[in-house]
Amino acid sequence: MVKVVVSFKFFDKWISFLKESGFEVVYWGSEYPPSKDWIKDNVRDAEGLLCSLVNRIDREVIDSAERLKVISTFSVGYDHIDVGYAKQKGIRIGYTPEVLTDATADLAFGLLLAAARRIAEGDRLIREGKWNKPWTPDFMLGSMVYGKTLGIVGMGRIGRALISRAKGFGMRVVYYSRHRKEVEAEYMSLEDLLRVSDFVIIAVDLNESTFHMVNEEFLRKMKRSAYLINISRGKVVDEEALVKALREGLIAGAALDVFEEEPLPQDSPLIGLQNVVLTPHLGSATTETREKMAETAVFNLIKGIRGEPMVYEV
Ligand code: GLV
Repeated sequence: MVKVVVSFKFFDKWISFLKESGFEVVYWGSEYPPSKDWIKDNVRDAEGLLCSLVNRIDREVIDSAERLKVISTFSVGYDHIDVGYAKQKGIRIGYTPEVLTDATADLAFGLLLAAARRIAEGDRLIREGKWNKPWTPDFMLGSMVYGKTLGIVGMGRIGRALISRAKGFGMRVVYYSRHRKEVEAEYMSLEDLLRVSDFVIIAVDLNESTFHMVNEEFLRKMKRSAYLINISRGKVVDEEALVKALREGLIAGAALDVFEEEPLPQDSPLIGLQNVVLTPHLGSATTETREKMAETAVFNLIKGIRGEPMVYEV
């Protein structure tokens, strides 16, 4: 029997599907990720590994696998996998782009609106019993979204999906990306983008060149009235520099779905700041999207083992 390892808490339905498809499935069913040793021990004689972003698939894990043909990740990001090394060893990598593009772009817009219009802050205020004064013209004023300028950093699938949403809000859309793209937005240098944007959405993938791309210098170049939104990976933002910028009013606010460390530690200074909206890595978290991601990841795994073209291969 061909062995596959599933190293994160997955859907029972798809575990059953793999078993019914004739695979021997070693399944880590806990929401707390397994140790590296557990993955190493179990992947030794497996032909497929289905993982998620909670698993670190480094050289050591890859070296422990003797028959591995495919690593299929239940995510669009693959910064948790040493892709270069895996490929060098002839291991194919599957991932789940496209199916989560719209869900993630929707969340980015939700965060943008929440930050600009102080939605989460207002909700908090009511729940804490602090809505105790009548309506006044200057109460909880935020920033206009309609007609403002959106700067998108990174123009991949999610960047494109952001453009159509922004057009609905009458926004001018500018973008910066390593390469110029055929899109309905103005290409700019990062410097110019930061100078003109009222909202900056980070939509790059995490790699060596984007690690801490949003640092103090980046934040200083933004307008003092601007907002930063991050739906990519936490490590793209130097969180310490962001906290400082939010405290000192270098920017008006931020909205973050991803963090340098996840779950976000309870003692993170971000938690004490009112001008930041925080969500717990929900970019692709819709029922419909997660179902499509599961199907894609499972078919990538099976096709990779069979030597067939995958649905999405890195
Ligand atoms: C989620 O963050 C993903 O990479 O799919």
